[in-house]
Amino acid sequence: MSSDLFASPLYTHFVSNYAQPGGPDLLARTEPFFEWQDARRRAGLWPYSRSLDAAPRAACAVRSETGAGATGLNFLSQDYLSLSTHPRVVEAAHRALREHGLHSAGSAMLGGNTAASLALEDAIAEAVQMPHVALFSTGWGAGFGTITALVGPSDHVVMDALSHACLQTGAAAATRNVVRFRHLDNEAVRRHLRKIRSRDTQNGILVVTEGLFSMDSDVPAIEELQSICHEWGATLLVDAAHDFGALGPRGTGSVGAQGMLGKVDLLMGAFSKTFGSNGGFLATRSPAVRQFVRVFGGPHIFSNALSPLQACVVTEALRIVRSPEGEVLRSRLFENIAVLRGELERREIGTLGAPSPVVPVVIGGAPVARVAARMIFERGVFVNLVEYPAVPIRGSRFRMQVMAGHSAEQARAAAAVVAEAIHEARAIVEGPRQFAVPFAAIQTPVPAGV
Ligand SMILES: Cc1ncc(COP(=O)(O)O)c(C=O)c1O
Repeated sequence: MSSDLFASPLYTHFVSNYAQPGGPDLLARTEPFFEWQDARRRAGLWPYSRSLDAAPRAACAVRSETGAGATGLNFLSQDYLSLSTHPRVVEAAHRALREHGLHSAGSAMLGGNTAASLALEDAIAEAVQMPHVALFSTGWGAGFGTITALVGPSDHVVMDALSHACLQTGAAAATRNVVRFRHLDNEAVRRHLRKIRSRDTQNGILVVTEGLFSMDSDVPAIEELQSICHEWGATLLVDAAHDFGALGPRGTGSVGAQGMLGKVDLLMGAFSKTFGSNGGFLATRSPAVRQFVRVFGGPHIFSNALSPLQACVVTEALRIVRSPEGEVLRSRLFENIAVLRGELERREIGTLGAPSPVVPVVIGGAPVARVAARMIFERGVFVNLVEYPAVPIRGSRFRMQVMAGHSAEQARAAAAVVAEAIHEARAIVEGPRQFAVPFAAIQTPVPAGV
């Protein structure tokens, strides 16, 4: 018998239910969302906005938004090669502090460039074999700024349907002519380009994809996509936020792994996944494109530049990424990934996509996902829950993020906890009502000490 206890908004609503409140009072109309969110928080069913008590190491102490704390295994941080705690990277940060101080103290256009940021531009240019690099203080800014700088209202954007929010928001801000193609479907791109070109030969077309899609852990066929773009007079932008540094020979990401290093029209990336810092970049073969994006890409010119400390951290991290030690870290990372995926599958829990530092763990509906997320936290394993609208409505998943600093034993232990919790949550949600009671009421106390 399936339980109706899980039919309350606590389990059936998503943030999208509250995304467009009406009414004249901009502040008061946020209340219904807050009430719903707070009910989830009080029930231990709001697994977001957690904080770490210390550095994002493989084992760590985590606090929920309500202040409940737990110590355990960290599979929620984005630090794929564990470089944010690497002694050489930490030492680079100390040195930067002594030599350059704390602050860029200006936008890149107005005095915010530093000797450290110029060195980082050169290092990235060499690594990606594209000579012209523009830096941004976030990966988000790199995606949004690149698209809004290059694409005008009469141009077109043809983007993978699962493209990151910074790309989607950039496209929406740049033009109304945005089409989304079926995830990874290069033939769909060809069809869209043919159709656009049959009626518009005067305006530009930007095709947007990612080097590694982090919700599904899958990768486009980049060489074919680039050649389709050229065939139809379109420009390709690849966002390598998740793969640059973590995959491919010398960390060159999916473009490197597919023999396309230096050969895609535009490559952008973020430092926040592998390079131990915030920040992002656009790389291009054209000095004109670089200068144009710097001046017309809003976040480059109207937001303060990367701090010299961040620039030095990323430069040192990149040195390690490209070194033989980087290869060792990547192979350790991929051994952990194989153990985690293998153990989950052995326990009849599905994972999506191909092996990468992001392991998407299939759950299904929101009630099972939310109950399992609470159990996993209570049992000392930390993972990210991803729900609609970031993924399809019945496609809730855990996004486990693996690091080189994990041990195989930790990957095995985490897989066991996650798999057991999902099976138990399914039994609770889909089984007889009495098992569901502890999870059904919003008054459910979060157990002491969690
Ligand atoms: C594909 C992609 N692009 C860009 C970003 C934004 O990067 P950042 O978080 O460094 O601003 C992210 C990060 O979530 C991402 O996944």
